[in-house]
Amino acid sequence: MMIHVAGIFFIVGLSVIAAVEGRNVLKLPSEASRFFDNAVDDSVGTRWAVLLAGSSGYWNYRHQADVCHAYQLLRKGGLKDENIIVFMYDDIAYNQENPRPGVIINSPAGEDVYKGVPKDYTGDDVNVHNFLAVLLGNKTALTGGSGKVVGSGPNDHVFIFYSDHGGPGVLGMPTSPHLYASDLIDVLKKKHAAGTYKSLVLYIEACESGSIFEGLLPKGLNIYATTASNAVESSWGTYCPGDYPSAPPEYETCLGDLYAVSWMEDSEMHNLRTENLRQQYHLVKKRTAHGNSAYGSHVMQFGDLQLSMDSLFMYMGTNPSNDNYTYVDDNSLGASSKAVNQRDADLLHFWDKFRKAPEGSARKVEAQKQFTEAMSHRMHLDDSIALVGKLLFGIQKGPEVLKRVRSAGQPLVDDWSCLKSFVRSFETHCGLLSQYGMKHMRSIANICNAEIKMEQMVEASAQACPSVPSNNWSSLHRGFSA
Ligand SMILES: *[C@@H]1O[C@H](CO)[C@@H](O)[C@H](O)[C@H]1NC(C)=O
Ligand SMILES: *[C@@H]1O[C@H](CO)[C@@H](O)[C@H](O)[C@H]1NC(C)=O
Ligand SMILES: *[C@@H]1O[C@H](CO)[C@@H](O)[C@H](O)[C@H]1NC(C)=O
Repeated sequence: MMIHVAGIFFIVGLSVIAAVEGRNVLKLPSEASRFFDNAVDDSVGTRWAVLLAGSSGYWNYRHQADVCHAYQLLRKGGLKDENIIVFMYDDIAYNQENPRPGVIINSPAGEDVYKGVPKDYTGDDVNVHNFLAVLLGNKTALTGGSGKVVGSGPNDHVFIFYSDHGGPGVLGMPTSPHLYASDLIDVLKKKHAAGTYKSLVLYIEACESGSIFEGLLPKGLNIYATTASNAVESSWGTYCPGDYPSAPPEYETCLGDLYAVSWMEDSEMHNLRTENLRQQYHLVKKRTAHGNSAYGSHVMQFGDLQLSMDSLFMYMGTNPSNDNYTYVDDNSLGASSKAVNQRDADLLHFWDKFRKAPEGSARKVEAQKQFTEAMSHRMHLDDSIALVGKLLFGIQKGPEVLKRVRSAGQPLVDDWSCLKSFVRSFETHCGLLSQYGMKHMRSIANICNAEIKMEQMVEASAQACPSVPSNNWSSLHRGFSA
């Protein structure tokens, strides 16, 4: 009977390929959507989701916009509030820079994505400790927040979406410390050992996000992950001022990230029973590569790749109003003209603010000060890390050691506690790495890989930085990033 229906569907289906709103979408008769309903076994298991925006500050608008958007998508897909856990600093919607108070958008013509988003973990409750406790479903370990955790059982599917800055081996948090790859992988292994999921999918938007799993995520945990970039490149912000399509003129900030909006805008236009993770991976990879231009990155996949044959429906549900929009190859959305390196999005904000502020205004002076401080912090970090390298390995060899990239399949570093303690000694003397400085994590990892001793690292850092710079980016008042 099933086969018979499928056969009819196939014949009818071919005759109704239609361009809907200029996109190439298959329009199916209602029988076909019933066919898909029956074909997908979702009789068991609950869908859980954890959404985390790891930044704060108006120049990072896009990360919280991504996460709010993901929440709306999952709600429309049928997930319940009790199964979606949201981490966001929550300083964007009512930020004084926000031209539409109380509203967050994730694309130029996009609707408000802020309304209704649960404030499970906001402000300083957005931290590594709470995130890992939520994943493990450990309520007693929580410090603050709504108390919602992933209370999943053995038949459940878990989806994790993270959006922020990152660097080799680390994902940012709006608080200290950052999330180290080794700690995330340990928690995933624990969760697997506890038998509290059937399968788990991670989507990670961050610079160098491939390094979070490269050589680290073992097979056999029933985990599938995709990342916005490989282990050695930036990821990209999109819908930025000056981009096409651009953020509306009153927005002096990027509205989204390229990988993040690519998967969400793709999910929003299909019946997700008909699209699987692998198909989405290829579409998102194509759009995020940006025609292999300089404004794009390489989306990667890790873990148990056979899970990518699962339909997106198993993790995201599906919006009933998309029931007639079946996935067909290559009906993806076009790329925007130009994206902005995530690491430069803060500078873009300060620059755009400076450019638009009236001549002689306090706003112009403030924007100039912010731009200059951010730039000088960058130069200070670049110079300091280079100097540490030269002090440890010599003028010739220093730069070469710091730039080394291990071959594919190898983790960034073998000794993660060395990496953390070397980050702390660098920051003690030279100030916080902060979001830009995360790019230097590979250099610090290489110093560990070269088996430098702790005393040598402390001494080199002290010599390179006689004093901690006093500006906001370097300030140690927020605590070490490791
Ligand atoms: C939950 O966290 C508490 C506090 O950190 C810890 O003592 C306990 O062992 C954890 N429980 C489980 C099941 O991991
Ligand atoms: C899908 O198409 C069928 C047949 O044309 C129609 O009856 C149904 O209302 C459509 N569903 C949606 C959600 O648009
Ligand atoms: C630095 O931080 C202080 C306190 O948070 C703030 O008042 C000041 O405006 C910041 N400076 C800049 C240039 O952002």
